[in-house]
Order: sequence, then structure tokens, then C-alpha cells
Amino acid sequence: MTERELVNLYISFFEGKGHKRIAGASVIPENDSTILFTPAGMQPLVPYLLGEKHPQGSRLVNVQKCIRTGDIEEVGDDTHLTFFRMLGNWSLGSYFKREAILWSFEFLTGKEWLGFDPEKISVTVFAGEDDIPADAEARSIWLEAGIPEERIHSFGMKDNWWGPTGATGPCGPDTEMFFDTGKEPCGDSCKPGCSCGKYFEVWNDVFMEYRKTETGVYEPLAQKNVDTGMGVERTVAMLGGYGTVYDIGVLKSLIDKIRTLSKADGTTKSERVIADHIRSATHILGDDQGVVPSNVDQGYVLRRLIRLAIRHGMKLEIPGGFLTQLAVMVIEAEGEDYPELLRNRAVILSELEREEKLFGETLQAGLKQFNKMLPNLLKNPSRTVAGRLAFKLYDTYGFPVELTADLAAENGMSVDMDGYNKAFEKHRQLSKQGAEKKFKGGLADNSEMVTKLHTATHLLHAALRKVLGETVQQKGSNITAERLRFDFLYGEKMTDEQKLEVEALVNDAINAEVPVVMKEMSPDEAEATGALGFFKDKYGDIVKVYSIGSYSTEICGGPHVNNTSELGRFRLVSEKSSSRGVRRIKAVLE
Ligand code: ALA
Repeated sequence: MTERELVNLYISFFEGKGHKRIAGASVIPENDSTILFTPAGMQPLVPYLLGEKHPQGSRLVNVQKCIRTGDIEEVGDDTHLTFFRMLGNWSLGSYFKREAILWSFEFLTGKEWLGFDPEKISVTVFAGEDDIPADAEARSIWLEAGIPEERIHSFGMKDNWWGPTGATGPCGPDTEMFFDTGKEPCGDSCKPGCSCGKYFEVWNDVFMEYRKTETGVYEPLAQKNVDTGMGVERTVAMLGGYGTVYDIGVLKSLIDKIRTLSKADGTTKSERVIADHIRSATHILGDDQGVVPSNVDQGYVLRRLIRLAIRHGMKLEIPGGFLTQLAVMVIEAEGEDYPELLRNRAVILSELEREEKLFGETLQAGLKQFNKMLPNLLKNPSRTVAGRLAFKLYDTYGFPVELTADLAAENGMSVDMDGYNKAFEKHRQLSKQGAEKKFKGGLADNSEMVTKLHTATHLLHAALRKVLGETVQQKGSNITAERLRFDFLYGEKMTDEQKLEVEALVNDAINAEVPVVMKEMSPDEAEATGALGFFKDKYGDIVKVYSIGSYSTEICGGPHVNNTSELGRFRLVSEKSSSRGVRRIKAVLE
């Protein structure tokens, strides 16, 4: 079964159970600063899981492109990927545990569906923890489906709980389904969830009935939801009897190409890292909300992925310029399913070229520094390069420690790796503290301030188009409880007059106390009203259109305030370049 066949089968199964297919969202979350990338299909649905009405109804299904870099170190084994696609079906207060579990079982084992042998399926359920009871209901539904006691395992929050993805948000116990590959168990304690490869996780059904609050309490949600996730690459690899995700689809083509380009005896890990990272980088650059490499947030992660791919390319002695060759393969293989890759092809290729050149310069600068330090280093009788010096080369010049180690070895020395790791850890802890602080001030679900800033964002967008012209187009939006941030296509710096005019237009709309009205309609009707919105391929049969008098009409999922008078005073804080051809505004409500 190909990836596309699996996607179609899954969607048609759930359409048969009354679900509406919705389009996948961007890999860069919109209006959500709790997280850098979309890690699962539920992320764009958070407002609806918390009770906002979805225009397509209460049973949804889709396939979502996801980025997860939390376990980037594991990439290179048989199953971990930083970019992957996830199938999911959702109940927004419609059905709950019983239907979710019985349908999962039917899809996994039904002859006209995946046809897995039911004898080879094991499941895990929530064991209870932190005042939340064990999931006895899920257990009894599995028994009813025919899974015997010995193949139902219970675990705590670490394994059988999902969410929230940020500091707060919807979450709940889950039940995971595993396929036994038939390999020998690695020991007496080998159970589903063990990393030895005997059990292959295929699906996760989450019962999202709680919301974790700012104070860390799990508060029951009024609406009981289901959120599920099935990895497309993993499941296809499993169904085809391949031991690894790198033997299917574009990943396989990339590995084959890397082997022909490489002049060295390849290590599997390097080949896989290159294939995975270039695919992720292509999708991040090629997203309509796409970012370019930088030293902060998503841009930093992107830069890291690209530079790791280049370094593994160096290890395999692949001649320079290979990134774009591989990216073209991703664009061509996945452009039919993700037309944004075709639309953004030029940006993808030029940014990869540019980053490769910049990294080359970084390496040169690091080399120069190392040579400057060399006479002193050679005087040290221990013949070791201190860890803090190696870290300084990395931290200040971006010079990777492996290269410092290579240079040291060429001069008969070694690097104090313990010292390096300590310096690195210390730095990481400091930046983690910074990130946690950021989370605290981040988007608190649908908090009142975020909703207000969201409405202000619509007014700002409309005002910018009035002042700067209709070529202005939203590129990205990010809201925290403190401020809004809005990226838009525009080639020049705004003048002070233009900034004042935009601010005044937004404040006019606020002072006019205009009601905010939502109507549901088809995308064609929405277009006829002149509503602003992104690309049509993102929408389903029905969309929500939010109008703010004659000031703004925009396709959007919400939520928004009821009347602009709730907003207070709008103030533009900064306007600068965010990347080539894109300006970034930060603004607050006072
Ligand atoms: N959100 C759940 C997961 O990603 C389904 O595992």
C-alpha cells in the first residue's frame, strides 16, 4: 500500500462514519505562540477542542503535515522522523471512547481495510495517576472488541497521556495500539512501548476530556472529545513489511540518490539524517506561512536542520550543492499533495543555496579562529583543547565541535568532551529557563487578551491594505497575551506617516464600537463577499467569515470579541523587516 492509498482508505473509512474531511493546516502554527511547529493534527483544532464551534461539524478527519524536533537525536533509527504526516479523526463532543476504540479496531483488522491480524495487536491504557482514575472504560471496550487481558497493558502519564502541547490546553488519557513484529522480546520486561523494535506503534486514541490550567490543575472540559493520530510513514512501512520508514516513498528515493552522490562508505545514520532533514527543511521553507533560516524560533530550528544535513553530507564526502538537488526531489514527489511546495519552489531553492554559502563562511571563520588559538594550544602539555574553548567556537562562531575535534586531531591533540558537554548543558539549561518563561507569558488557550489581539489583527490587516495597497498579504500571525505580531508581504520600510495612519484607522474602528459578526458560507460565497483569506485549497465546504462593519471581512476560524469597543487602544510598537520582502509589525492593546 502506498502512502496515498493509506490516506484515501483512512479518510473514506471515517467519511463512512459521518466525518467531514478538513484540509491540513500549515506546519507553522497560526495565532498560536505556545509552540513553534505543528506537532500533531490536533494543534490547529485547539480552539474547537475547547468548545468553539467548528464550521464543518463535530466529526472531522484529515491528514496533517507535522514537525517534531524533540527527539531529533533519534533520527537515523528505523522510525523517527522530524517531518511526517499524521492521519487523525476527531470528535468534538460527538462520540467518545466506545466508538473511537471500536472504529480503530475495525479499521486496523477489517479485511476491506488494513486487515492486520487481531492476534498481533496489543494495546495500552491509562493506569491512573495524579488524582485521575485508571481508564477502566477503555479497558472494558478493548475486552469487548476481543483483545484479551494479557494484551492490554496499563501505564501512567508518561506513556498513556497526551497533551497539552504548550503549558496549558486540552489533554487526556489515551489508548495506544501496537503491532507485534514477531521479533524475540528483548527481555522479561519487553512490552508495547519498549524501544527494541518488537512492538510497532500504529495509532493513538486520545480522550481529551481535561484542560490543564495555568496553575497546573486538570480541569474537566464541558465537551468530551476524541483526538487520534496514525503516522502515515510508519504505518505504510509496517504494512509493507519494511523494517524502516526509510524504505518507502520519497525517503527511499532520497536515500538512493544520496548513495549515488556520496564518495565515502556511507553510514546509514548520515544518509538517513540527510534525507529526513532536507525533507523537513523543504516543507518548512515551502509552507505558505514559511520562515527562512535565522537565529531565533522556527528560523533557528530550520537553520539547524539544514546545517546538520550539510555536515552529514561532508561526512559522506558529497560535493557541495546537493541540498537543492534533494529538495527538488521532495518538491516533485510531494508537490501534488502539497501544492505550496510548487508555489514556493524558488524560495526553497534560493534559501537552501544561501544557507549553504553562509555555513561555508561560518566554517571558514571558525577555522581562522582555531588557527589563531593554535600556538597557545600547542603549548599545553596535556595536548587537550579545553571544553570551554571548544564551546566558545561553537557558541560564538557556530563552529561544530566535531570539526574542532578533527582539527585538534590533525595537530595531535584531543578535545575535552566532558568539559564541552558541561558548558553546553549549562547553556541549554539557561535557554530552557528562558523558553519556560516565554511559555508562561504565552498563549493561554483562548484567553481574553489573545482573543482581543486576534480581532485587532484583522483590523490591522485591513488598515495595512488601505494604506499600503492591496498587494499587502498576510504571511504569518503570532499572538501572545502581551502583543500581536503580524508578518506581511511588502517590499519597503513603512514611513512614520504610514504607521500613524494605520494606527489611526484601527483606533477609528475601535472607537466606532462596531459589532463583530460571524457568518458561515461556502468558500465561493466567501470569495464573492471579498473576504480576505489564504489559498482556497485550505478550506472545506463551509467556512466562517468574520466581518467588522465596513472595516474588515476575513475568512477565519475565530474566536473574536463581540464588539470592537472591547479592545481598548491600539498601539503599533515596531515595524521592521522579518525576511526578504516581508515586514513584521508588533502591536499592543492598552
Ligand atoms: N495527538 C495524538 C498524538 O499525536 C493523537 O499522538
